[in-house]
Amino acid sequence: MMNAAISFVSLSLLVCCFCQEIIDKSYFSNGDRQSCCMNDNREREMNSKIQKLEHAISDLYEQLRNTELAHCVPGSYSNTGLVPCKLCEVGTYQPSTGSTSCKPCEVGSYQASVGSTFCTVCEVGSYEASSGSSSCTTCGEGLWTATTGSTADTDCIILHIGTDCGDFNGTTSGVYKIKPQGVKEPFSVYCDIQTEGEGWTVFQRRQDGSVDFYRDWTSYETGFGDLMGEFWLGNHYLYSLTSQGSYELRVNLSDFEGNTRYANYRVFSLGDASTNYTLAVSGYSGNAGDSLRDSNNWPFSTQDRDHDRWSSNCAVAHKGAWWYGACSRSNLNGKYHHQGEHITSDWDGVFWWHWKESGYYSLRSTTMSVRRRN
Ligand SMILES: *[C@@H]1O[C@H](CO)[C@@H](O)[C@H](O)[C@H]1NC(C)=O
Ligand SMILES: *[C@@H]1O[C@H](CO)[C@@H](O)[C@H](O)[C@H]1NC(C)=O
Ligand SMILES: *[C@@H]1O[C@H](CO)[C@@H](O)[C@H](O)[C@H]1NC(C)=O
Repeated sequence: MMNAAISFVSLSLLVCCFCQEIIDKSYFSNGDRQSCCMNDNREREMNSKIQKLEHAISDLYEQLRNTELAHCVPGSYSNTGLVPCKLCEVGTYQPSTGSTSCKPCEVGSYQASVGSTFCTVCEVGSYEASSGSSSCTTCGEGLWTATTGSTADTDCIILHIGTDCGDFNGTTSGVYKIKPQGVKEPFSVYCDIQTEGEGWTVFQRRQDGSVDFYRDWTSYETGFGDLMGEFWLGNHYLYSLTSQGSYELRVNLSDFEGNTRYANYRVFSLGDASTNYTLAVSGYSGNAGDSLRDSNNWPFSTQDRDHDRWSSNCAVAHKGAWWYGACSRSNLNGKYHHQGEHITSDWDGVFWWHWKESGYYSLRSTTMSVRRRN
């Protein structure tokens, strides 16, 4: 009976004092169950209060940390998470708010100032092979890079300046700089010097679909793409080039079966911007057929600048940009369809109607070049 009573008390003590790490001996000895439990409850309450307080403090600290970090404006950072924020060093940048570090500029770009939110791509005539640079390396004397953002010294090539590619007779095909009469800044072009006689200035190339040609008026005016790959030189540049004299046009075409065709036009010119670059083309010869005839005397149209004769928008229907009338038998700036998908269900591809007698065959590659006529 006595044993049972004791074990009842001890059991209760154990239960009520469960959370206490060390059960005070005195409570045990006097068997004061009440006081043990009261004490235990008080301690439990206190522990939970302390825990709450700890949470509140850590929340507060986190809030404080976020607040201070949020104060680091773009172009600055704080690696401790506390103020004061430091400005990004030269060669680094940070576009977002509240950062703990800045990013190094990528190869081919630089940042000369502290506290920057961006890096600038290396200008034409310079390159940068390492990341985190504060400047780009200028190409050696008589050399330059054809494109911005060059990343290696091997991108520096011999600089020539001429009025068109005809001035580079005897050199190899590639990117050169020309400065047509009346043009302030020289610009880069691709010269095709393989064809007999003087060099041809290439103003359009399609070959793999790597560049999107479904673009707006401004893009077609100022040009886009990569002169070593797919590109449109730009109507503004094409105009300034061909307004220097009498020019002829060469169109090269190839299909997915390995065949090539060409079309030559003895006369090729563009009107200036006020005519929306109206095309004048005549004197066809070649084996591709005269698919530019319908485009003669038509201004250039893009998805956002519709100058065609059709009630609807030819550039949108043909997914391109061209000298559309109503609409056209050629569409060399149309959507690129890869092999297997090159037989299209719409006239939205890169087509030259008179070769395939169809607008449904999208060609593998095209180039358009001009050369001064003597
Ligand atoms: C270009 O070079 C070729 C071969 O050297 C030469 O026959 C031709 O007359 C040159 N053309 C001009 C315009 O200099
Ligand atoms: C166009 O085709 C001719 C004949 O094959 C070639 O000599 C010339 O280099 C080609 N033009 C371009 C820009 O590829
Ligand atoms: C050129 O385009 C603009 C706007 O698209 C139009 O207002 C203007 O009449 C056009 N000019 C010519 C000569 O077609």
